[in-house]
Amino acid sequence: MAKPAPGKHKTTKFVFVLLGLLALFLILDLLWASSSSPSPDWTLPDSTNIIVPRPVHHNNSTPLKENRKKDNKDGVSGRVLSATFTDLDAPELNWEKMATAPVPRLDGAAIQIKNLLYVFAGYGTIDYVHSHVDIYNFTDNTWGERFDMPKEMAHSHLGMVTDGRYIYVVTGQYGPQCRGPTAHTFVLDTKTKQWQDMPPLPVPRYAPATQLWRGRLHVMGGSKEDRGTPGVEHWSIAVRDGKVLEKEWRTEIPIPRGGPHRACVVFNDRLYTFGGQEGDFMAKPGSPTFKCSRRNEVVYGDVYMLDDDMEWKVLPSMPKPDSHIEFAWAIVNNSLIIVGGTTEKHPITKKMILVGEVFRFEFDTQKWSVIGKLPYRVKTTLVGFWNGMLYFTSGQRDRGPDDPAPKKVLGEMWRTKLLL
Ligand SMILES: *[C@@H]1O[C@H](CO)[C@@H](O)[C@H](O)[C@H]1NC(C)=O
Ligand SMILES: *[C@@H]1O[C@H](CO)[C@@H](O)[C@H](O)[C@H]1NC(C)=O
Ligand SMILES: *[C@@H]1O[C@H](CO)[C@@H](O)[C@H](O)[C@H]1NC(C)=O
Repeated sequence: MAKPAPGKHKTTKFVFVLLGLLALFLILDLLWASSSSPSPDWTLPDSTNIIVPRPVHHNNSTPLKENRKKDNKDGVSGRVLSATFTDLDAPELNWEKMATAPVPRLDGAAIQIKNLLYVFAGYGTIDYVHSHVDIYNFTDNTWGERFDMPKEMAHSHLGMVTDGRYIYVVTGQYGPQCRGPTAHTFVLDTKTKQWQDMPPLPVPRYAPATQLWRGRLHVMGGSKEDRGTPGVEHWSIAVRDGKVLEKEWRTEIPIPRGGPHRACVVFNDRLYTFGGQEGDFMAKPGSPTFKCSRRNEVVYGDVYMLDDDMEWKVLPSMPKPDSHIEFAWAIVNNSLIIVGGTTEKHPITKKMILVGEVFRFEFDTQKWSVIGKLPYRVKTTLVGFWNGMLYFTSGQRDRGPDDPAPKKVLGEMWRTKLLL
């Protein structure tokens, strides 16, 4: 090759200094990550608690690859990923802050009936769960009425759906931390505010996908009784006008992939599930308070559909893996809108990563798009749509623009104009 370039020695020294600085930075970063204390009000991911890491097998590596390219260009090793590498490009939306809910809520449930958003249950803190319903009125944008839930009703991880008057409520976690589930089911008449029992689910589940389809209440997936093992079982029971028409739940075709926290909708007489995860926090063995401890979770963006064939069909996956979205959606015209969630954990720090985008799925073309940014990344949002406006409230938000890990549990309500 040609003669050594002038100043080569200097360049080498410079490169060594750079590498040294980078190594120092990495060590400091690791030390910081492993010593950063959990949030006072929430059990946060602690990488030392993760057991049996399994390979990540979600089907969307695009953001990762793009980030690697960018990192290389900046002269940083391809293995170093920024904390926010999963954020997707998204248009800005003009968010307006509305009245804050009477209480902050994580893992609550919500059902919209006309101009009212019924907001149920949820954690206030990891050690305290709500046992009431708050109602937001989209017409005058106020939080109004509040009423109690039945004592036996689960406080989080509920399955819930409405026919426009009656709200069917199935199973879920009973109590704070990572307590056990209940198989209890209820129906609420929103006109009279009366609750009735329904036949219990054959076995309890955490956050199963729940919908009304062809005259039957369908419940599928979720986590099994240990809170972590994905269930694929699928049951249904005939219902009409708040009445259960059968004695027992019927076993239906299992879903292709189990686990909690997915969106489940019916559109044009077809049943769909979107996203979700396998695995979840579980109670620490022997803990008298059922203290949550983190286990391995795999978040996915899979979309499944049931139609006349009664066989699950696989549709195009979400723009990225997304979970904690069971009440984070609205159907607007011929599209499904999904707000926030959680995505796959950071591959190096193993921290949970929240989602800060609004996604759109067009039922007719089965196309996905990212239609906007949220005011912050947030999971378990409770969503409504009224009069051209998309609303979301509650959930757990990120630590800031540069840190997508979960922190504060909120009751904030936001809205933005939506034009599809
Ligand atoms: C990933 O997606 C592609 C195209 O959507 C599909 O062909 C492939 O089977 C998927 N792989 C997995 C592991 O799901
Ligand atoms: C919602 O607000 C509108 C406007 O103030 C009011 O007329 C209506 O009665 C409210 N609905 C409920 C159920 O509070
Ligand atoms: C839904 O469709 C109607 C009729 O085409 C249109 O007027 C409306 O703006 C659409 N809504 C949104 C949110 O785009």
